[in-house]
Amino acid sequence: MQTYQEFQLGAFRFTRDDYFAHVFFPTASGKPMEHKMDIDAFLRPLQRDVAWSFFYGMVKFDDVFGTINHYGTVEVFGGKYHKALKQNGLWHAEELKRGEVEKVFIQILEDWVPADFDPFAAPRETGSSIGPKRESNLNAIHRKRVVTNRMAKQEDRQDPEFPVNAGFKGMDFQYGEMHIKPGHEQKFGLVNLYEYLARSDVTWNPSIVSVLEHSLFCPTTEEHRLPVKHGNDRVEWFIQLNGKIDWEVCDQNTGELKAYVQMRPGDVCAMPSDIQHQGFAPERSMLLVWENADPKMPQKIASGAVPGDPDKMVTMKGE
Ligand code: PHB
Ligand code: FE
Repeated sequence: MQTYQEFQLGAFRFTRDDYFAHVFFPTASGKPMEHKMDIDAFLRPLQRDVAWSFFYGMVKFDDVFGTINHYGTVEVFGGKYHKALKQNGLWHAEELKRGEVEKVFIQILEDWVPADFDPFAAPRETGSSIGPKRESNLNAIHRKRVVTNRMAKQEDRQDPEFPVNAGFKGMDFQYGEMHIKPGHEQKFGLVNLYEYLARSDVTWNPSIVSVLEHSLFCPTTEEHRLPVKHGNDRVEWFIQLNGKIDWEVCDQNTGELKAYVQMRPGDVCAMPSDIQHQGFAPERSMLLVWENADPKMPQKIASGAVPGDPDKMVTMKGE
């Protein structure tokens, strides 16, 4: 009978059984730790950490285990950003090469994600990874983003490969009108962002739809909960397009709860750079994430050149 493989990354060791992922690590206190996560709840953040190339800043799989992107190297940590574990020396962290972490994380996904589980899907749309070793789901893991090399146009909008998700059935997509001077038809396009998002076949996986220098519009469809607790290293903005998402906002170093944010259509929220957030969407919802991709942003905030608190931005401009 086939069994799940175990993996080593620095001093971290990963094993899985039918129900749990186990993460083993040594600690400063001398007591080795074994941390357990429900297997689906481990594989969903793992898949996103790989797909997002470790994202901006901190990706916590839960309160204990995760990564911090240092853009070239990655800190892999256990317990370091959990108040009680940190205070009691029950933590470990290692700075590793990005490629090394990525390689092991992909190997874990290839071995541990079974064919009947899609880590990008909402729970109602997929099976579970619970249970004994079976065939893998390489297509889901190595899912390639659709890359466009030109402006999206109206005629692109009804690709049968991407049907409107059941969560958005019956939604009315309003289109504007274009009146184009003959001979210029190829230069113009009209797309409806709601329809584009309604056809998204993944959850909690922002796609970049516009780029203006470092300003990225990254809309996404959400359902169930964001599989990671994201500790950003810069300010980021959320614009709720429809549906509803509630956010838990916690201190990113201790995990202590700071605020609940309930977002409804039209609400705009700016998340400071020193917190972690996790969203909960009871129904399929559309969210526009607005990111500042300036690679120097973490240093700019650390040096005080740019505030990490959106409230202070207003003050600085007004000064
Ligand atoms: C975030 O951490 O800001 C984030 C990540 C993925 C999403 C939405 C928000 O789908
Ligand atoms: Fe975030």
